[in-house]
Amino acid sequence: MVSVSLMLQYLRRTLPWLSLLAVSLLAGCSFTGKQSALDPKGPVAQVQDDLFWVTVYVNCGIFVVVAAALFYVVVKYRERPGDEGKPMPPQGHGNPLIEIGLIAASVFLLVIIAIPTLKAIWYTHELPVDEEYYEPSKLGIWYGGRVDSEAKDDILEINVYGWQWWWSFEYPQFGITSANEFAIPAGKVVKLNLRSVDVIHSFWLPKIAGKVDLMPGRKNWMWILADEPGYYYGQCAEFCGEAHAYMLFRSEVMTDGDFQKWVEAYQSGAAAPGGFQAQPDKDKPDPTAKDDWMAWSETVRKNPEAIPGDPVHEGAELFMGKAQCIVCHAIDNSPAMGQTAPNLTRLADRKSLAAGILDNTGPDGIIDSEKQLDNLYQWIAHSEDHKPGNLMYYRADAGLRNLKYTGVTFGKLQTVGITEQSLVAAGVSSALAQKISASPNAPILNVDVDSEMMTKQQLMRVMDGLTNEQFSEVSDWPTETEFRKIAAFLQTLK
Ligand code: CUA
Repeated sequence: MVSVSLMLQYLRRTLPWLSLLAVSLLAGCSFTGKQSALDPKGPVAQVQDDLFWVTVYVNCGIFVVVAAALFYVVVKYRERPGDEGKPMPPQGHGNPLIEIGLIAASVFLLVIIAIPTLKAIWYTHELPVDEEYYEPSKLGIWYGGRVDSEAKDDILEINVYGWQWWWSFEYPQFGITSANEFAIPAGKVVKLNLRSVDVIHSFWLPKIAGKVDLMPGRKNWMWILADEPGYYYGQCAEFCGEAHAYMLFRSEVMTDGDFQKWVEAYQSGAAAPGGFQAQPDKDKPDPTAKDDWMAWSETVRKNPEAIPGDPVHEGAELFMGKAQCIVCHAIDNSPAMGQTAPNLTRLADRKSLAAGILDNTGPDGIIDSEKQLDNLYQWIAHSEDHKPGNLMYYRADAGLRNLKYTGVTFGKLQTVGITEQSLVAAGVSSALAQKISASPNAPILNVDVDSEMMTKQQLMRVMDGLTNEQFSEVSDWPTETEFRKIAAFLQTLK
């Protein structure tokens, strides 16, 4: 009896602390956090949440029964004073009744979990064809306001592409593309075609639906429906390389009217820098935004003095020229048509930057333009600090870092204290080093002696340890001021 009362005493003393600990641990996990799957805001997330709770309840039931049985046995068959030296009680092995009973109970519990699981699988794997599946929209008549079998072809479709480490959202019905943030109308079924460009990613928008993988060479899809307008947070949910944890996205759920405006804004593309306008002529009495851009590029090429010398114009020139952003990025209407990095057409309308890791909004949730400008500068000038591994900086063939090694001549290197000996120390043969120092104005990587040329690795070794300012002096790497001008231009993309 002593040991049981001791145990009870111990329990009485520790229980308040244990429950306090449990409560504070639970308080740490908010059920309504930005990325909580326990706060469903759409029927798909609701079904998944319901299923989660069914399994939680069943498991809690099992835990209570097993724990109670264990407790009962431990207490009832404990060793009592005077039990020492008594013979072992009879030992039993196997009781058919209990075994069959436990198997039956397990099967019963599995069936309880299996029924809603199968229902949820069917539900989420078939586009809803009639309104009993969900509350039809009362907001308007987009796509007929609801989805029935005839309207199935009219469902809003979005092609979602996973890239290391960002998202592309293409709206084939509207001919527009967004990146990292996408809009959908509230109360409408949306079909997402999930594709990967490189490795396996996973689409997870916890409050709306999740998760389905984006796999190279496979055509996965899912449907989603958001009940009400709002700003929802998503995340890649499959490890996909170095910056996986920074592969976030956002979904802006809008009323029908706002969504239509959003689509139209994207369709109109970006205006030419600083409101630059093409001169109307008899062939083109009403120049379009595209004509404005063409006139702008033409002027930059043929008549650069006619371009106003403000940061926006200079930033646009850097974007299209020296900084080589157009190799990878597209801005609709403009000469930038790169296809391997986020489409920047309405970049300044997005509340976040760099696949969701930099927040452009103030405390009121509205874009704070000062913060946005600073984020844009931070992101382009120091992306490797904000998102280690990001390909805007590190891509071997077109990353920004490559600019640190283009346009370099020996003459320029000498201004930052690099000598012929530094070249030899980096592995260049003395014959080549001599030839390089004899041709100080030639691009250093183009000089050759007996078909030997300096490699980029050797140049990197030579320039290792230079500051950003020194890189700007001797190569195509933009200066801080130039990065700020590019940021000023990017902020006009809306
Ligand atoms: Cu993409 Cu993880």
